[in-house]
Amino acid sequence: MNLNKILNNDAFSRDEIIYLLNLENQNEIELLRDAAYRTMSKFVGEKVYFRGLIEFSNICLNDCFYCGIRKSNKNFHRYNLDKEQIIEAVKLAMEFNYGSVVLQSGERTNESFIEHVLDLVKTIKSISTNDIFPEGLGITLCVGEQTKETYQRFFDAGAHRYLLRIESTNESLFKSIHPPELDFNKRMDCLKSLKEIGFQVGTGVMIGLPGQTIENLADDIIFFKEMDVDMIGMGPFIPHKDTQYAYMIEEDEKSKWKNYELALKMIAVTRLVLQNVNMASTTALQAINPFGREEGLRYGANIIMPQLTPTEVRKEYQLYDGKPCMDEFAKECHLCLSGRIASINREIGYGEWGDSKHYFSRT
Ligand code: 5AD
Repeated sequence: MNLNKILNNDAFSRDEIIYLLNLENQNEIELLRDAAYRTMSKFVGEKVYFRGLIEFSNICLNDCFYCGIRKSNKNFHRYNLDKEQIIEAVKLAMEFNYGSVVLQSGERTNESFIEHVLDLVKTIKSISTNDIFPEGLGITLCVGEQTKETYQRFFDAGAHRYLLRIESTNESLFKSIHPPELDFNKRMDCLKSLKEIGFQVGTGVMIGLPGQTIENLADDIIFFKEMDVDMIGMGPFIPHKDTQYAYMIEEDEKSKWKNYELALKMIAVTRLVLQNVNMASTTALQAINPFGREEGLRYGANIIMPQLTPTEVRKEYQLYDGKPCMDEFAKECHLCLSGRIASINREIGYGEWGDSKHYFSRT
């Protein structure tokens, strides 16, 4: 295959996607990165949009094998921020002029949890709406699998984006990392419901899962395209000490960096194939390389989620080991990220929602 010829196309076959993900030569990877960056500039621009991240509770009813906050892990403290603490974090988002916030938590489906989320969405909308921001802060929810009716209630309350990772689009791989009660088809149905309701829908996968192949990852990208999603969040899989994958922590450094590099290639190839989606440069990249999030932006990502979770509970939200920015206050994270983004000559879309252009092209 001829790399230049592939990169100058705007349609990519499965074989070409696999070829690109398999690139190992640094000069060729740089050509891939450059092509992805140009596609990003052309279709969504070079601005970076901030979504202030509030991890409002780590209580979770699921037991995903890879996740540090899964139900059966008893080695840390469970928290549930009260409304005042969450609103304090929202006020910081307004002070820092972020256009949007993400409310993320462990998964719960009981009515009181749902009502709590509804109350938060409505309160955030009302306190953030003013003459300067007539539509208030953009609100993204990331609270897992819910019924279609619940998603509709969230949407009606004012949330307009929803993140729900498929984790892997290969059904047997999905099964191998989840307990039997988590059903692949149900996850698919949730994504479809979210789209039908009118959310901007985000999904994504972990990269470097045990047993995952390059072909699986190519199929993940093809799934994103066929599912016509608006937003993508992906990062390297990082083993957590309190999970069955703890043994992998001891494995050589090489595989960690391999996953990291593969994650960057996934970002680049996804940008080439999906063109006008919003794509996050995730914190998991920074857990491996201190400059991982800047690299993600250089490979075609355009979204960053600065931490707004109160510092005192951040350590209790460790989905994977080595999560960075644990001791910083929100203000420090804000200044740090602004500096990092300036260092790669990118502008921040302060005060803007920065919605997915893909959403408007499909609706
Ligand atoms: N390594 C990397 N990402 C993880 N996530 C959960 N556990 C891990 C891990 N060990 C990701 C999942 C989930 C998101 C919130 O965090 O993809 O959807």
